Amino acid sequence: MSVIKTEKLTHIYSMGTPFEKVAIEGIDIDIPQGQLLAVIGHTGSGKSTFIQHLNALLQPSSGAVYCQGEDINKDKFSRRDVKWKVGLVFQYPEYQLFEETVYKDIAFGPSNMKLSAEEIDQRVREAAAFVGVDEELFEHSPLELSGGQKRRIAIAGVIAMRPQVLILDEPTAGLDPRGCQQILENICDYREKTGATVIIVSHSMDDVAKIAERIVVFHKGKVAMDGSPEEIFCRAEELMDIGLDIPRAAELAIALRREGLGLPEGIYTHEQLLAAILAVKEGSAC
Ligand SMILES: Nc1ncnc2c1ncn2[C@@H]1O[C@H](COP(=O)(O)OP(=O)(O)O)[C@@H](O)[C@H]1O
Ligand SMILES: [Mg+2]
Repeated sequence: MSVIKTEKLTHIYSMGTPFEKVAIEGIDIDIPQGQLLAVIGHTGSGKSTFIQHLNALLQPSSGAVYCQGEDINKDKFSRRDVKWKVGLVFQYPEYQLFEETVYKDIAFGPSNMKLSAEEIDQRVREAAAFVGVDEELFEHSPLELSGGQKRRIAIAGVIAMRPQVLILDEPTAGLDPRGCQQILENICDYREKTGATVIIVSHSMDDVAKIAERIVVFHKGKVAMDGSPEEIFCRAEELMDIGLDIPRAAELAIALRREGLGLPEGIYTHEQLLAAILAVKEGSAC
């Protein structure tokens, strides 16, 4: 079943002025409930503009967005209700922490949802556990913490609203490899335990290759590719043409194939590459 659907979605910034800019144009995307979707593209390709339409933060210049079949821009009530269903974590969300304690920051979203104090408390603890924030930190000021921890707290604040759709704009930007890995694991864990739909915006193929079920590639405000990781990474040359990296394992597989090693198509993770090399080695040993 479709949870989010866009039809001919177009957004033009500063329409009718000399600064007019078509940021996205004619986007048709249908996202089934529970999918882990990655949105990939170069800086300026329209990724952030696109996702900000999915919880009515931006309104389409033309076209429409549906959540569970309902036009989210039908009236002001639909625009408000969609914000509880679709949670959006901005790029560098740590700059938006403003409460005096970690607990209050995570509780901010659910506190606006007319829930009981116990329900809010339960949600805060559950969300903190999902992102690996220790309860010992609850009474600390978020400003005292490291960049990685701040980001987890910001993500927990959105998770605490238990959105059916969780959207994260570049959640690993600026983190070291270990920090990236942990955040991605937390997100996968959250999705597995709740069945939520997750949309991750990234410009890192290596990050999304490991976890995404589907990849949508944006290029100059349009969808250039839409498919499974296998389908997308088979089109390595096209990806490189539009200035995107391909996963390192895919790059290596291409290079080894050029050297004459009989590796199959569709390799894009290190595990797949290792297994394929071992299979070739075993084959030649027989
Ligand atoms: N508030 C804005 N006003 C005018 N132009 C904008 C604004 N935000 C983004 N843009 C332009 O829209 C295009 C798409 O931007 P954006 O959605 O931020 O892309 P991405 O997230 O892929 O980097 C870019 O050309 C960008 O300069
Ligand atoms: Mg962006």
